Amino acid sequence: MNLHNCHNFHDFRRLAKRRLPSPIFDYIDGAADDETTYRRNTKSFESCDLVPHVLRGVEAVDLSVTVMGQNLALPVYCSPTALQRLFHHQGERAVAAAAARYGTMFGVSSLGTVSVEELRKAHDTPQVYQFYFHKDRGLNRALLQRAKDARVEIMMLTVDSITGGNRERDLRTGFSIPFRLTLAGMLQFAIKPMWGINYATHERFSLPQLDEHVDMSGGALSIGRYFTEMLDPSMNWDDVAEMVRQWNGQFCLKGIMSAADAKRAVEIGCTGIVVSNHGGRQLDGSRASFDQLAEIVDAVDDRIDVLMDGGVQRATHVLKALSVGAKAVGVGRYYLYPLAAAGQAGVERALGLMRTELERDMKLMGCTAISQLSRDNLRSRCG
Ligand code: LAC
Repeated sequence: MNLHNCHNFHDFRRLAKRRLPSPIFDYIDGAADDETTYRRNTKSFESCDLVPHVLRGVEAVDLSVTVMGQNLALPVYCSPTALQRLFHHQGERAVAAAAARYGTMFGVSSLGTVSVEELRKAHDTPQVYQFYFHKDRGLNRALLQRAKDARVEIMMLTVDSITGGNRERDLRTGFSIPFRLTLAGMLQFAIKPMWGINYATHERFSLPQLDEHVDMSGGALSIGRYFTEMLDPSMNWDDVAEMVRQWNGQFCLKGIMSAADAKRAVEIGCTGIVVSNHGGRQLDGSRASFDQLAEIVDAVDDRIDVLMDGGVQRATHVLKALSVGAKAVGVGRYYLYPLAAAGQAGVERALGLMRTELERDMKLMGCTAISQLSRDNLRSRCG
C-alpha cells in the first residue's frame, strides 16, 4: 500500500498505522475512557440525510467561505494539533504548506513542534494560534504578546482541556514527552526502525512555543500531566474576557458544547466559537459535535461565527455541518494520518481529495455556492 492507493480517511489511517510505532499511532488514534464520543462523532452524521436538487446548472462550484474575517478557498481547515514532528519529521511545516496550497487556514498548537514565527514567515494563508491558559498569568501574557507580534490572525483558546482526559491507550504504552515508554511500548518502536531513523536524523524534538517559557527538562511530561499541572482549572469567563480585550482581534473559543456558553462567548466579545469535544479525547460521553450544532447556531443567531470539528471524514459530513449553519469545519485526524503516512505529499493528497469530493457533492446537491446550503436540504432520521 502506498500514498496513491489512499482514497479516503480509512486508507490513510491504515498507512499511518503501518508506518508509525504503535504508541504514537495510538496517541493520535485514541480518545478518552471507552472512546464512545470519538465513535459517535462520525456516526452522528448518519442521523440526517441530504436532500439534493437537480437541473440547476452546476458547472462551476465556488467552495469559498469567510470565517472570522478570513477568506478561505475551502470550507475545511486544519485544526491545531500537538506534536506534529513526532508523526512525521516535516510536522507543522508540511501541514502549513499544504493548507496554503489549498487556500485554507491551519492551526499552530501551544504544543506545536515548529515555531509560530517560522510558520508565519513561510506562508501567508490565515493562521490560528491555539492557546492553553496556564496557571502562570505572566506566561499567558507573554504567549499572547508573542502571537500578536508574529501577526497571527486568529487567537483560539481551548476551553475543554482544563484537566487531562483519561487516554487509556497512552497509559498502556507510556506515551509521554520525552518518551518514557513501558517495555511493551519500547518493543513497538524497535519494530518500526524507519520511523526511528527519520526521527534521529532530523532536527531535535522541541516545543518552541513553550521551550522559551517553561522548563521541560524535569523528566517525562505526559499530555495529561501538562494539562493537570500547568493549566489553570480556575480559569473563568472574567479571565477570558480580559484575554479578549488584550488580544483585541479575532478571538475564538474551542470546545463550546452548550448554548448557554455560546451566548456567553458572544457577550464577552468573542468573534467565533468551535463546537467541539476535542475529538472525543477529553470528556467521554459528551455529545457529538454535529448533534449539538443546531442548538448552538440557533442560540447565537449569527452574532458570532460558529465552526465545528469532530468526526469529519467525508465531504458529505462537511456539507451537512454547513447546512445546519457552521461557517467552516475543522479536521484533525483527517490530516494527521496522511501526515504520518507521507508528510506534505500526504496532507496535500488528503486536502485534494476533500476538495474533489466537495466539488462533486456540491454538484450532486445542485449547489454552486456554500451559501446555498441550508437546513431545507437536510432531513432528520428521527423526526
Ligand atoms: C490532545 C491535546 C494535546 O488532544 O490537544 O492530545
